Amino acid sequence: MPNLTFSAREVADPASASSQCAVIPLFSDKKSLPAEARAFDRAGDGAIKAALALGDFSARKGQTLFLPGAGGARRMLLVGCGQAKKFDRAAMRGFCADLYGALKKTTAGNAMLHLGALGLGKKEACWFLAYLARHLTTADYRYRETLSEPKPALKLTRFTVNPGGKVPVRAAGKALKEGRLTGLGINDARELANLPGNICTPTYLASAARKLSRRFDAISVSVLEEKKMRELGMGSLLSVSAGSRQPAKLIVMHYRGGRPGADPHVLVGKGITFDTGGISLKPGAKMDEMKFDMAGAASVFGTLRAVAEMNLPINVVGIVAAAENMPGGGATKPGDVVRSMAGKTIEVLNTDAEGRLVLCDALTYAQRFKPATVIDVATLTGACVVALGSHATGLFANDDDLAEQLLQAGTDSHDRAWRMPLWSDYQKSLDSNFADMANIGGPGGGSITAACFLARFCEEYRWAHLDIAGSAWNSAPKGATGRPVALLTRYLQSQAGDA
Ligand code: BES
Ligand code: MN
Ligand code: ZN
Repeated sequence: MPNLTFSAREVADPASASSQCAVIPLFSDKKSLPAEARAFDRAGDGAIKAALALGDFSARKGQTLFLPGAGGARRMLLVGCGQAKKFDRAAMRGFCADLYGALKKTTAGNAMLHLGALGLGKKEACWFLAYLARHLTTADYRYRETLSEPKPALKLTRFTVNPGGKVPVRAAGKALKEGRLTGLGINDARELANLPGNICTPTYLASAARKLSRRFDAISVSVLEEKKMRELGMGSLLSVSAGSRQPAKLIVMHYRGGRPGADPHVLVGKGITFDTGGISLKPGAKMDEMKFDMAGAASVFGTLRAVAEMNLPINVVGIVAAAENMPGGGATKPGDVVRSMAGKTIEVLNTDAEGRLVLCDALTYAQRFKPATVIDVATLTGACVVALGSHATGLFANDDDLAEQLLQAGTDSHDRAWRMPLWSDYQKSLDSNFADMANIGGPGGGSITAACFLARFCEEYRWAHLDIAGSAWNSAPKGATGRPVALLTRYLQSQAGDA
């Protein structure tokens, strides 16, 4: 995990502040240099103006240039920002990526960004700083658990921001802190999702939950074993683990940061630690990617970590429905009918539609917590990938306000979702002759019929479903993205009263 910390410190004279790398943003269309750059230029015998005059650096977007030290800085890093009036949030994100790329090339152990040169107002500056800390934290994540040689990462350990009078130091520090903590939650989610299926089993997830509870006083954990789930009537969830040697686990994590008795926000994660499809076996190509089928669960872990690190004054319950979907002598077969905890019977027409089978019982279980809202997160359908690709998470909700709040949280955190319909017209496709419902719908609208299936178990509370099948991982290079930890964390921050 990156060993990078952030702080804000107002310096009276930027050029005299000591740092191993002064980061100086520059716009391409400004007639004169900003005050910060002027100070360094004077201290460095006109090196910045010379680079501009020579044309080596024109401050267009994507351009970075290291220059020798000036004043108290051992080296300078100019970062091109393009046109000042076009410096929107997309440009800010580009800045963060360019900055990480440049910092990776230096041996500097610390750096100081002179924010004033960007001329941002308070709100935009805070957004920028939170995103910056989050981006540097996540860009520097390296998977290493099963590698003999770790891949190189930043040498940098300390990143300081000189707000330059644009933002109060406290606000800048808070933004940096929240961004970093969100980044750590994202990285935790990626790590769990990246682990191979032979390590990351339902039992492993249960121990990861216990580890979280040891780390944070406000988090407590209980794990329901198969015996207990059988007593509760969770025949649907148990039908998924029936073909596996790995016992299913229902992991329940409580974060108690709000007043006792305040209705909790419940997060439910799909935790299929490997999805072979079961008897409805998947084709071989890319089947390895089905180790990511617990990315929803991983995002619940990551979000709880971020929430606990931030000490948010709310109560959150994280439920992870963990199981391995395997073929085997005891496996559920197409046509088998199982009984869910809610009492509804389900005809399992396709054992590869297993996510909804574990989620429906977890969603029924969620009811006992008298939830303010329930949000489930699942790599649920290939159809969602067809519909939305990888940029948007599919959002379904039985409550318009909740949907709106989640969409907003996604926009604010740049971890975006797109709402899909849950119209009752789609429900008919789940009809079965032999059970109360089938576990698959017709050929079209697969992500919608999957959500419709879940909706039948969520009638008692405000509920949203996030289908992250496309957004939770990248195929080239392969790896988990940690989505939608940023969206969920932002949503819960808003619920905690932080607009
Ligand atoms: N885990 C898969 C969904 C998935 C597919 C996620 C591709 C990411 C990439 C899920 O369990 C599944 O197999 N869904 C089936 C449902 C179908 C049988 C109705 C699917 O999408 O094909
Ligand atoms: Mn499946
Ligand atoms: Zn699956």
